[in-house]
Amino acid sequence: MDFKAVIQKRRTIRRFTQKEISLEILKELIDFARLAPAGMNVQSLEYIIITDAKMREQLFPFLNWASALPRNQRTPEENRRPTAYIIVLNNTNIKKFADFDVGASVENILLGATYYGLGSCWMGAIERNKIRELLHIPEQYEIKQVISLGYPDEESIVEPYIDSFKYWKDESGTMHVPKKSVDQSIYKIY
Ligand SMILES: Cc1cc2nc3c(=O)[nH]c(=O)nc-3n(C[C@H](O)[C@H](O)[C@H](O)COP(=O)(O)O)c2cc1C
Repeated sequence: MDFKAVIQKRRTIRRFTQKEISLEILKELIDFARLAPAGMNVQSLEYIIITDAKMREQLFPFLNWASALPRNQRTPEENRRPTAYIIVLNNTNIKKFADFDVGASVENILLGATYYGLGSCWMGAIERNKIRELLHIPEQYEIKQVISLGYPDEESIVEPYIDSFKYWKDESGTMHVPKKSVDQSIYKIY
């Protein structure tokens, strides 16, 4: 897949087949993440990979899905949940503020996932205290974001933005994601 195809194909996916992702691919995603830009090149981000079925089950209730959708469409059904997670941590002993680094690193992971035929969901609406407790994460680590991963079991397509940013699902289960056009996105050209 070429660069343009990866960018255009990446969509948030929240339903997954139950085919497992190899650890090799997950480590490749961390490889993409570690090569992302970092302010002053100070690299404070570290990652937890979760594939263990029991751990996945314990983590799942601490994630909040698709808040723009009606409640009955939000959360993946039991047999369509993610098969892996990457948790992005910031080691505050190395750097206190790393939010931009987190964004760059997460995007590399999402694009890498698309390249490998995976679906992904960037998740910020997460219960950090409960995740810390579950995984015994020491206080020096901030729990920044969770990335849910798996082989896709839903379609998501871009449609032109008209007057609402709200994504929505049609009767067949296809997600529609309004995106502003290039012209709507450019403030000014000098
Ligand atoms: C910072 C950030 C946090 C997000 N948190 C969540 C989340 O907690 N739960 C969720 O279901 N989706 C979450 N998303 C996914 C967005 O809903 C999704 O990116 C948006 O609807 C656009 O769809 P697209 O990724 O297919 O372009 C998050 C995305 C970003 C960038």
